[in-house]
Amino acid sequence: MTILVTGGAGFIGANFVLDWLAQSDEPVVNLDKLTYAGNLETLAPLQNNPRHIFVQGDIADKALVDSLLAQHQPRAVLNFAAESHVDRSIRSPEDFIQTNIVGTFRLLEAVRAYWNSLPNDSEQDDKSTFRFLHVSTDEVYGSLGATDPAFTETHRYEPNSPYSASKAASDHLVRAYHHTYGLPVLTTNCSNNYGPYHFPEKLIPLMIVNALAGKPLPVYGDGMQVRDWLYVKDHCSAIRRVLQAGQTGEVYNVGGWNEKPNIDIVKTICALLDELRPRADATSYTTQIAYVKDRPGHDRRYAIDASKLERELGWKPAETFESGIRKTVLWYLGNDEWVAHVQSGAYRESVKTQYS
Ligand code: NAD
Ligand code: DAU
Repeated sequence: MTILVTGGAGFIGANFVLDWLAQSDEPVVNLDKLTYAGNLETLAPLQNNPRHIFVQGDIADKALVDSLLAQHQPRAVLNFAAESHVDRSIRSPEDFIQTNIVGTFRLLEAVRAYWNSLPNDSEQDDKSTFRFLHVSTDEVYGSLGATDPAFTETHRYEPNSPYSASKAASDHLVRAYHHTYGLPVLTTNCSNNYGPYHFPEKLIPLMIVNALAGKPLPVYGDGMQVRDWLYVKDHCSAIRRVLQAGQTGEVYNVGGWNEKPNIDIVKTICALLDELRPRADATSYTTQIAYVKDRPGHDRRYAIDASKLERELGWKPAETFESGIRKTVLWYLGNDEWVAHVQSGAYRESVKTQYS
């Protein structure tokens, strides 16, 4: 048995692949285009592991996906691949349309043809047990008011950024392939992740690396936008659980009930660094906080109601925000080489040396 993971050199996908291969003997075919967000240094522990088959390529390349499916005969495809950064989608939306919409469509077409070719002679045959799991985001639901209840799976779709609109489109395609063709799909919509190997342009890793470098900590607008944070390993355990026991055609929200205003996150990171790596002048890292121009169309509040996943599949996060953020800060303090290679661009070289 084998699974095919797309985007498995990115932040969440790589954490998922590392966790999967630490817990299971089942091989992983990892298809990743290696955009700026793909980092093979994250996967270095798997370099000599025969159960990790890395393929550099695009989910929009249907011929490539066709051949990978035919060759490896996976029992499931998990789609992590995406353009994922909201700020980049505002500056340059085209790649988001190409990968998140066109790419997901082409991947679905390849998977549909493969699934149709599988044996279909009992309730436990390959066709009945196959799964396509699509990894999505809470951002498709739009923005909440201060006292609105958290997003449930039936909340209307109201995406506000090119990123979230492209993810919403991909979710709709996945849904349509289930309703129209019967493809056995599962969709997860998760809140903000944080943890090891997070590309340092997103809020939490950016604040850690900028603080340590003595640079400003840029807080957009008034810093009172609320995000709902989940430790990445908990997201990975939720995906494993949904793959194992989720009902096809169903959507599962994933979150840890950890709503925080951005400024509180930044101050928490500063306090941890004050404790673990005090500044040379003994003043707090909070002196580096700089309020800057707000993100255009910035969603004010996200909050995920993950009670369906807990109630129906018995999933719960292992980390509190306090334990997860401490682990994360400690991880960045202990992995300065990984960070330095991302900042210098040297991680791009590992693509050439490992897989050319
Ligand atoms: P990321 O940007 O860190 O990684 C994305 C990966 O996909 C990279 O390795 C990149 O090289 C690869 N990729 C991009 N385009 C590709 C293509 N056309 N073909 C093949 N590979 C391609 O993203 P992430 O934060 O790890 O997010 C993974 C998934 O989870 C995304 O679908 C994202 O929308 C979703 N998600 C992310 C979060 C979060 O907080 N980061 C929360 C909820 C959902
Ligand atoms: O909610 C899930 C989403 O979380 C995922 O779908 C996205 O892929 C992921 O990138 C993330 O999107 P956000 O836009 O919420 O993440 P980001 O880390 O970019 O920003 C988090 C919050 O912090 C947001 O309100 C913007 C703010 N921010 C961000 C940066 C980079 C700042 O105030 N300053 C910054 O420098």
